[in-house]
Amino acid sequence: MNAPLEAPLGIGIIGSGFIAHFHVRSWQSIRGSDIVATQSRSLDRARELASYAEELRVGKEVTAYDDIAALVRDERVDAVWVLTPNHTRVEVVRAVCEEVRSGRASLRGIAVEKPLGRNLAEAREVADLVRGAGLRHAYLENQVYAPRLTRTRELMWARGASRSGTPYLARCTEEHSGPHSAWFWDSEAQGGGVLNDLMCHSLEAGRFLLTPPGHDPSAWLTPVSVTATIASLRWGRERYAARLAETHPGVQDYRTTPSEDYANATYTFVNGDGEPVIVEAMTSWGYVGAGMRLSFELLGPEYSMSANSLSGDATVFFSRDLEQQEGEDLLEKQNAEQGLMPVIADEPAAYGYVAENTHITRVFADGGQPAESLDSGVAVTELLMAAYYAAETGTVVHFPVDLSDYVPAVARKAWHPRTAPAAKEATA
Ligand SMILES: NC(=O)c1ccc[n+]([C@@H]2O[C@H](COP(=O)([O-])OP(=O)(O)OC[C@H]3O[C@@H](n4cnc5c(N)ncnc54)[C@H](O)[C@@H]3O)[C@@H](O)[C@H]2O)c1
Repeated sequence: MNAPLEAPLGIGIIGSGFIAHFHVRSWQSIRGSDIVATQSRSLDRARELASYAEELRVGKEVTAYDDIAALVRDERVDAVWVLTPNHTRVEVVRAVCEEVRSGRASLRGIAVEKPLGRNLAEAREVADLVRGAGLRHAYLENQVYAPRLTRTRELMWARGASRSGTPYLARCTEEHSGPHSAWFWDSEAQGGGVLNDLMCHSLEAGRFLLTPPGHDPSAWLTPVSVTATIASLRWGRERYAARLAETHPGVQDYRTTPSEDYANATYTFVNGDGEPVIVEAMTSWGYVGAGMRLSFELLGPEYSMSANSLSGDATVFFSRDLEQQEGEDLLEKQNAEQGLMPVIADEPAAYGYVAENTHITRVFADGGQPAESLDSGVAVTELLMAAYYAAETGTVVHFPVDLSDYVPAVARKAWHPRTAPAAKEATA
């Protein structure tokens, strides 16, 4: 265990895209750590993120790198946040761990964005590499730090579960109208479609709500079975597949080989009291509303909670006579600029990034191990793969199930739901 750190913890950000900017914004509300370095394959993008961090005053003289090893070796860097696309996860973590194992660099910890890997083999490899380098680790699942979940979970368990018994049903959904970068749409690069991209959040939020504060969901909830459905509802239609081809040239043809833009899964667990409990997770890239919608419900014998991110902090109205520019200044994945619109005033706080990074940096600075660790990331990946398998085979999957080498058909670009059944048989 490292001794507690006196100086601010120095953070190196690997990857300079969308989520890196969200994390940097969150640091405005965080004390005891500073952004000291950024990295991107393009030095210009790394410099842009470094300047953004300086402008927000969450770092001084932030160094930009195009090389991961050089960032890890920077003496000011105490911990790294891995924020690159899913298909780079293993190679990026390997590059970080190699510097540490060889003794060329020393770090206190590594934090890795969701999902931990594109499949179980990758997630396990990431966790093994980090353990092999002797690093403390965090799985970046922001939703289990979101105030709307942490506070209501405390209340549910303190006032409800303590009197009438443990909660039995968590319903969690995440929906928006589709991702922002081309690689998300490439089912091989991403590891699938919306199930891999968003259900990791909804499933972990569900496990979190059903688990008493202070307990590890993987110890409290034993998986029993899962059923699931995946579908291509919107983006496989001619018009939307053509739109994708135009906005992201070179992306796979969604008329013939889409990734799923709808996924639901029903997981049954047995909880620490021996009671059956259920997580219903539903995710979609086909929701065209004001913006990203996160919703959560928890039901217990004499209590319930519900939260919906689009309730927002306020609403604003812009009339049809105003000319508007497209933006995401009201909320993430905003779809319109006119009419009555919800506003989330502080998105990094509302979605959990502030509490997430506050917790992880404090624990790393103290030389400890955050609770939401890469082990949670592996557990979530295993459950997600079981959902893909259930959907693909149209079966109920019972746990334990060995999915060590399983790669979903969607991720192999071998899923063709819009092909007529007769044609499918002929090509089978
Ligand atoms: N917690 C959340 O809610 C949330 C939200 C969005 C994204 N994410 C996760 O964050 C990660 C990054 O997503 P994003 O939205 O920032 O993507 P993005 O496309 O906006 O940015 C990705 C960044 O990685 C860089 N990059 C691309 N290919 C690379 C390669 N081969 N090697 C190294 N770097 C490369 C890009 O230049 C860019 O700087 C993904 O794993 C995604 O699942 C999490």
